[in-house]
Amino acid sequence: MVAVLGYSPQQITEAVQDMYTAVADRPDAHFHFPVGGQALRFLDYATADVDSLPQGVAASFAGVGNPFMADALHPGDTSLDIGAGAGNDSLIAASRVGTGGQVIALDLTAAMTRKLKYHADGRYPNVGVIQASAEHLPLADESIDSITSNGALNLVPNKRLALREMFRVLRPGGRLQLADVVINRPVNVDCDSDPRLWVECVVGATVEDSLLAMLGDAGFENIRIVRRLDYFAHSPSQQTREIAKSFGAHSIELRAQRAGRAPQWWQRWLRRCHPRRWLTDLHRRGFLGVATLTLALINCYGALAAVAILAALGAGVALTPSLWAGTIALLTILATLFIAVGYRRHRSALPAILCVIGTVLVLYALFIDYSAITEFAGFVFLAGAAGRDLYLRRREEAARLGLGRPESHVKTGVSGARTERR
Ligand SMILES: C[S@@+](CC[C@H](N)C(=O)[O-])C[C@H]1O[C@@H](n2cnc3c(N)ncnc32)[C@H](O)[C@@H]1O
Repeated sequence: MVAVLGYSPQQITEAVQDMYTAVADRPDAHFHFPVGGQALRFLDYATADVDSLPQGVAASFAGVGNPFMADALHPGDTSLDIGAGAGNDSLIAASRVGTGGQVIALDLTAAMTRKLKYHADGRYPNVGVIQASAEHLPLADESIDSITSNGALNLVPNKRLALREMFRVLRPGGRLQLADVVINRPVNVDCDSDPRLWVECVVGATVEDSLLAMLGDAGFENIRIVRRLDYFAHSPSQQTREIAKSFGAHSIELRAQRAGRAPQWWQRWLRRCHPRRWLTDLHRRGFLGVATLTLALINCYGALAAVAILAALGAGVALTPSLWAGTIALLTILATLFIAVGYRRHRSALPAILCVIGTVLVLYALFIDYSAITEFAGFVFLAGAAGRDLYLRRREEAARLGLGRPESHVKTGVSGARTERR
C-alpha cells in the first residue's frame, strides 16, 4: 500500500532543523550525504580557501556543490548566503568581497548559526549572522548585491516564495550563485511530503528544467548552468545512491542575474500555462494517459451533450459523425499507448490488457455496430486501466524510496541524526 503521508511544511521544517542540528553538533556521526573536508575536496573548492577555514566550520560543511564555480561575487559586495550552515561559503565569500564588502550568513537552524557566530566573531568582522527562513528574508528590498546558496533550496517547502524573496532583496542586476540538487524525474505527491525523505535532499528537489523555469518566473535572467555533478555518487549510503540514481538526482551550479523588473502576474501565469510545460509535467508525472482519456470522454459525451443542449435552445448544430468518431478513436488509441508505457515502470501487463479491451470495445461501437452500452463499457475498462497504472506507478516509486519497508534500511538515531546500514 502506498503511504499517503501529508506532512505539513512545519513538520518538514522541524525535520530539517533536527537533521542540521546533528550536522552542526555531531559532524562525525554517520550521514547519508557527504559532510566535511572530504566533500569540500571532491567539490573542487580551492585548497587555499579550504585551508583558510576554521576546522570546526569545515567539519560541518554539508554543501552539495561549489557555488564559487559561478564566480558571481565582486569585491565590495553586500552578499547574502542563504542556508549558510556552519558558514564555509560565507567565510570564503568574506574574503571575496573583501574588507569593503559585507556578508550576511542566514540559516534556519539555530545550532548552525550558533556555530558560525562562534567561529566568525572577532576573526571575520565583515560577516553577520542571522537565524531566519529563506521564505521570509528579514532584509530590505534591493539591499543585496549578490547571493550564494548551497544545498538549501531543495530543503525549502515553498521554493517559489524563496525565489521571490531572493529577487526582492537583490538590487536590479544583482547576481546569484546557486548550487543545489535537482532531479530528472519528479517524486509524486504520495511521498513528496515525508519529512524523513525530504531531509535526504532528493525528495524536496525540483526537476532541473522546472527549477530554471521557476527562476525565470521569479524574474531572473541570463541563467547559466556552469557545472553538473554526480554528487550522490559520493554518498556513503548505498540506499541513498540507489534512490538518487532512480530519480536522476544530481547537483548543479548555476549563475543568474536579477532582471530590472519581475514579470507581471499575468506574464508569470502565461509562462506557467505554456502547453510545453504542461505536457512535460503530465508526462513526467505519468498523467498523460488520464489526460488523453479525459479528452476522449469530453469529446464523446461532451460533444453529444452540447449538441443536445443547443438543439433544445433551438440552434440546430449537426455533428459530423466521421470527425466525431475519428477524434474519439484517435484519443482512445493515444490514451492506450500512454498507459501501456507504464509497463516500463511497474512491469505489470494488466493496465495494457485492460486498455486494449477498452479500446476494442470503443472502436467496435464507433465503427462497426454502435451501442451506447458497449461504448460505455469500453470507457470503463480504459478508466480502470488508467487508475491501475497510476496506482502501480506510485507503488513502484514508494518501493524505490523505501516507504513501507522501514525495517529494511533506515533507523533514526539519537538527536535526529540518521544511521543506516552501509
Ligand atoms: C545542505 S545544508 C548546506 C549548508 C551550507 N550551505 C554548506 O554548504 O555547508 C542546508 C542548510 O540549509 C538550511 N536550511 C534549510 N531550510 C532552510 C530555510 N527554509 N531557510 C534557511 N535555511 C534553511 C539548513 O539549516 C542547512 O544548514
